[in-house]
Amino acid sequence: KYEARIILLAGSTLCIFLFALLYNAFSRKIDVPSCVPFNKSFEHPSLKQVDDKTYELYLVAQMWSFTPDEIKVPAGSTVDLYLSSKDVVHGFNIVDKAVNLMAVPGAINKTTLHFDKPGVYRIVCHEYCGVGHQNMLGKILVQ
Ligand code: CUA
Repeated sequence: KYEARIILLAGSTLCIFLFALLYNAFSRKIDVPSCVPFNKSFEHPSLKQVDDKTYELYLVAQMWSFTPDEIKVPAGSTVDLYLSSKDVVHGFNIVDKAVNLMAVPGAINKTTLHFDKPGVYRIVCHEYCGVGHQNMLGKILVQ
């Protein structure tokens, strides 16, 4: 009889917590917090042309995609990459290129890329970030 009461108490406490969690998540519209640094450039992450061979690329990683996920630049371009994440830590690796960054929520990682040879450069997330991790891909088309 004593055990039954303990189980009932534990069960109802669990239900209260669960209810509180669901209440917060749905009725108050609380989501996974968005952690992109406060900078207008990251509101609509995209490729911006500086001059004929220089670009700035603002790129945001999130479960489970990159924005933008397809980037086109002419051969011979220099691209300043500013990378951040909306949710968890993601990886940013350009296949066959010495580029290996982490996309960290709340932080910006910066590097400069040079694309001399035309081709398709694939971007992969190389940090496990959830069930969609293996589908987190992008590409850079150098023409
Ligand atoms: Cu993003 Cu793995």
